[in-house]
Amino acid sequence: MDSRSWLVLEPDPPQHTLPEDLRARDRFGGRDCGWVAQMRPFVRHFSRPGQCVFDPFCGFGTTLLAAALEGREGCGIEIDAGRAELARERLRRHGIDAPIAVGSLPHAEIPRAIDLCLTNVPYFGCRWPTDEGDPSEGQLYLENDYATYLHRLRDIFHAVRGALPDDGFCIAMVENVVIEQRMLPLAWDLGQLLGGLFVAREERLLCYPREAQALPAAATHSNRSHEYALVFQKTREAICIASTLSALEAIRQAGFAFELYGSFARWLQHGDAESPRPPADADLLLPDDEARFNQLLHWLHERHFELSLWGEPARPPVRLDRLRAHWFLRAQRRDRLGRLVRLDLSLASQAAA
Ligand SMILES: C[S@@+](CC[C@H](N)C(=O)[O-])C[C@H]1O[C@@H](n2cnc3c(N)ncnc32)[C@H](O)[C@@H]1O
Repeated sequence: MDSRSWLVLEPDPPQHTLPEDLRARDRFGGRDCGWVAQMRPFVRHFSRPGQCVFDPFCGFGTTLLAAALEGREGCGIEIDAGRAELARERLRRHGIDAPIAVGSLPHAEIPRAIDLCLTNVPYFGCRWPTDEGDPSEGQLYLENDYATYLHRLRDIFHAVRGALPDDGFCIAMVENVVIEQRMLPLAWDLGQLLGGLFVAREERLLCYPREAQALPAAATHSNRSHEYALVFQKTREAICIASTLSALEAIRQAGFAFELYGSFARWLQHGDAESPRPPADADLLLPDDEARFNQLLHWLHERHFELSLWGEPARPPVRLDRLRAHWFLRAQRRDRLGRLVRLDLSLASQAAA
């Protein structure tokens, strides 16, 4: 892969495409099968030979085939048992034996230790055919509600995060979709969601050579011939100590009481003697006072801190029992030089418990 932010892909040679007899066995005619050529540059660039590439939406095994062609191991999870079997059969014909579990994260088990997650997400609004008595529970193609769909994607990528080693990459390929002539910013929403779990590194635009057609003036229509590859990394991002200290000072000056604990408090006490890396957040313990807690949230919100509970955006008022269920509420802000302040707010009673 080179430094350009886009890649123009060459269609797969016949020996790498999904064989026609397997395509015919798929209930969706293999319409959502990706290209091996789309995955190979990412396999090469973001993993090393012998490492394991994981696809949580494994489909027809295209990622696993790309991984094997690049000398990597592969494993996947696919919710549709019929498809998982097609993927196994496809890989067998290439002499590849990569484990594919049937099910879905976060419940299914990832078949082996992984180094890179590389996937094409199932798009929202897909017209996935269903049969009577079809065991499609969990199939994201069938999710009717966009917010629930995003929520479930988040749970899946949260589990991926847990399985990746530190500094491992998670790359998701996705496109904004048009439903009933409206564009749904699926790629950007997924980017935001992944940004709550990983550090965003870059986007690449994948361009699929397709015929262009003239459009009448002022018409809006696209032949959807691109996709984003969103590149994220599981990295512990250090906060800026100076900016964090000045934010804490401002909070105190505004009359909010808190106590510091955890890695940031230790860092202040011992400097880098205990840990060579600056902390990733500052933990604050606050009194169990719902009104006061929400005043602080308003104060932070007005100062452009993003508030979230486990990656989900939060707005005051937040009930204390909701806070307790999540353990902490995160308030973070980044300035134009990229300096990060990240405060994790918890209740003093929880620390005592
Ligand atoms: C875009 S397709 C992946 C195709 C794959 N990249 C390929 O080219 O072989 C997305 C896949 O996700 C699967 N899927 C949908 N919801 C899922 C879930 N909750 N867990 C695992 N797989 C799921 C679908 O059945 C579909 O096969």
